[in-house]
Amino acid sequence: MNIDALIDAIPKAELHLHIEGTLEPEMMLALAARNGVELPYKDVAEVRLAYEFDCLQDFLDLYYNGMSVLIEERDFYDLTYAYLEKVHEQGVTHTEIFFDPQGHTCRGVSFETVLGGISTALETAEKEMGITSKLIMCFLRHLPEDEAFDSLHCACKHKSLVHGVGLDSSEKGYPPGLFSRVFAEARKQGFIPVAHAGEEGPAEYVEQALDDLQVQRVDHGNRAFENPALIKRMVNERTPMTMCPLSNLRLKGVASLELHPLKKALQAGLVVTVNSDDPSYFGGYVAENYKAIQQALNLQAGDIITLAKNSFSAAFIDDKHKQAAHDAIDKVVSEVKSKLKSK
Ligand code: HPA
Ligand code: ZN
Repeated sequence: MNIDALIDAIPKAELHLHIEGTLEPEMMLALAARNGVELPYKDVAEVRLAYEFDCLQDFLDLYYNGMSVLIEERDFYDLTYAYLEKVHEQGVTHTEIFFDPQGHTCRGVSFETVLGGISTALETAEKEMGITSKLIMCFLRHLPEDEAFDSLHCACKHKSLVHGVGLDSSEKGYPPGLFSRVFAEARKQGFIPVAHAGEEGPAEYVEQALDDLQVQRVDHGNRAFENPALIKRMVNERTPMTMCPLSNLRLKGVASLELHPLKKALQAGLVVTVNSDDPSYFGGYVAENYKAIQQALNLQAGDIITLAKNSFSAAFIDDKHKQAAHDAIDKVVSEVKSKLKSK
């Protein structure tokens, strides 16, 4: 079976995607001009040239700077709609999107402006392209927990639009336990908890995310492999990991994709998924992530099918939706197989 054709055709859910990380250089410059924002780049080539990172913090500095062009509700709409159009072409039928309200409210852009633009685009895309979605609001872990509470209070006014809460930004030195109180309140208010852990931080941060924040998924999770008992626990509890191969490569979490722990995760029986994280910054959307990791780890068609099915098993959708997605995957797989046989 032509594996790239399978990757393109197979229905996929994306579960680890920062909407601000989909800001392509062309849109960054166009929005800067539209909103009169000064950027330190004169053209697209200069923006791309700046995308050389040695670690997570190098990336975050550019990521927060790039966000400064997002000001009006229509900017957030355009950003979100462009992402959805792109992944619709790649076979994504469901997406769970992170957004970082504190990256905007600190610049005087209101929570409602951000949420209004994103959620209207999601609604439009569901009508036009049939893509379903959930929104996950992240707390920035380099800021104090009190400020996370401010975001939570805003989200409580929009429970129909915000499904979950997450934790992102600089990991080292900011363990999940610092956010126990705000996550407890978020869970009490009905938000589903997830957190970035083990991207750069140690396995202990993954344990804290599970124990102190009671997360239902771990975002990244790579360094959990330093603790075999923790992996066993995540297998037993079926806690999904949302992995992002090209992100890990570009931020030097792995020296090469051949050394990426995704195959180990599959072999261990973890509910592991493939995602793009910040596709504009890391050189690939979800299909490119599947293709790159398939090649590097010599994944087989059966692995791709498992990864695609995992993406729906790990999604925050009901069992009927999960089953329908798994059935759609089986149908596409048999169509791809018979097309190839008839060639
Ligand atoms: N890690 C942590 N925080 C982030 C990331 C990431 O990869 N992308 C956007 N915020
Ligand atoms: Zn992320």
